[in-house]
Amino acid sequence: MTKDKENSSQVESNIRSAAVVGAGQMGAGIAQVLAQNGIATQLYDQSADALQRANALIRKLLDRQIEKEKISPADKEATLSHLSDAADLSDLAQADIVIEAIIERPDAKHELFSKLDEICKPQTILASNTSSISITKIAAATNRPEKVIGLHFMNPVPVMELVEIIRGLQTSDETYAISKALTQEIGKTPVTARFDYPGFIVNRILVPMINEAFFVLMEGIATPEEIDAAMKLGTNQPMGPLQLADFVGLDTCLAICQIFHNEIGEDKYRPCPLLIKYVEAGWYGRKAGRGVYTYEE
Ligand SMILES: NC(=O)c1ccc[n+]([C@@H]2O[C@H](COP(=O)([O-])OP(=O)(O)OC[C@H]3O[C@@H](n4cnc5c(N)ncnc54)[C@H](O)[C@@H]3O)[C@@H](O)[C@H]2O)c1
Repeated sequence: MTKDKENSSQVESNIRSAAVVGAGQMGAGIAQVLAQNGIATQLYDQSADALQRANALIRKLLDRQIEKEKISPADKEATLSHLSDAADLSDLAQADIVIEAIIERPDAKHELFSKLDEICKPQTILASNTSSISITKIAAATNRPEKVIGLHFMNPVPVMELVEIIRGLQTSDETYAISKALTQEIGKTPVTARFDYPGFIVNRILVPMINEAFFVLMEGIATPEEIDAAMKLGTNQPMGPLQLADFVGLDTCLAICQIFHNEIGEDKYRPCPLLIKYVEAGWYGRKAGRGVYTYEE
C-alpha cells in the first residue's frame, strides 16, 4: 500500500488563515494543530461554554508539552497568538479554509454549510471532519460544491498522524491538492478514500468492531474489562474497543452506526441495543464522565 505522502507532488496550500466550527474534542484539537503550525485560526462554537472549555484544554495540552520539553514556553505563546475566538459565524468570512467539526447530524451539517457558503469569500474551501456523512450531499447544500471536501482527523488530533481525505463527487482537483498539501504542512499523513461511501476507510472498519463489542457485552460473553483486555492483548491494539468507544463518544458511535444502517442498508450494521440504551441514558463516554466506564474528571 502506498500512503499519499509518498505520492505527493510538492504543491503548497498557501493557506494562511483557517476557521474551525465546533469546539468539541475534535474542533479544539484541529484548531490547536493549525495554530501550532503558524496558521491564523479562528474557533467558533454555538455554545460559549464549549468555546471556553476548548481554550482551557488547548492551554492545558500546551503546558503538558512544555513539561515534556517537546515545546518551549515561547512556542506556547506563538501558538496562542495564532488562535482567536469568533463570536459569530459571519466573523469567518475571510478564512482561506473552514473546517467543520460539529455534531454528527446530516441536517445540522447541511444547514451550517449552506450558511458558510453565503458568508465566506468565494475562494474559501469548506471542509468537513465528518466520520460518516456523505461529503457529496454536504457539498450539494452549497453553491460551491467543487470547494467542499472531507478532512477526517483522528482523535486525539495533536497526537494522531492520519488525516483521511474524502473527495465528494463534485470536489475539484484544485481543492483536493490544496487540502492535501495543508494536511502535510501541519505534519499529518493523508490517505485518500477514493469513493465517498459511509464511513470512508477507517470508520467503515472500526465502528462495526466497536458495535460488535457492545453485542459481546450485551450477550454476557465477557465484562468490559475482559473484552478490552482480550482485544488489546490478542490483536495488539493500544486500547480496547469499549474504551475507544468512550473516547470517541458513544453518541458519535451510535450516529455513525445509524448512518451505516440507513445508507448501506444491511442488517449487519444495525446498532447494538445496549449502545442505544447507554446513549439514551446520556452515558456519552469520557466527555460526559460516564460511558462504558466511569471517569473522575
Ligand atoms: N470523537 C471522535 O473520535 C471523532 C473522530 C473523528 C471525527 N469526528 C467527527 O468530528 C465531529 C465532532 O465530533 P466531536 O467528538 O468533537 O463532538 P463533540 O460533541 O465533542 O463537539 C461538537 C461541538 O459542536 C458544537 N456544535 C453543535 N452544533 C453546532 C452548530 N450548528 N454550530 C456550531 N457549533 C455546533 C457543540 O456545541 C460541541 O461543542 C463529528 O462530525 C464527529 O463525527 C469525531
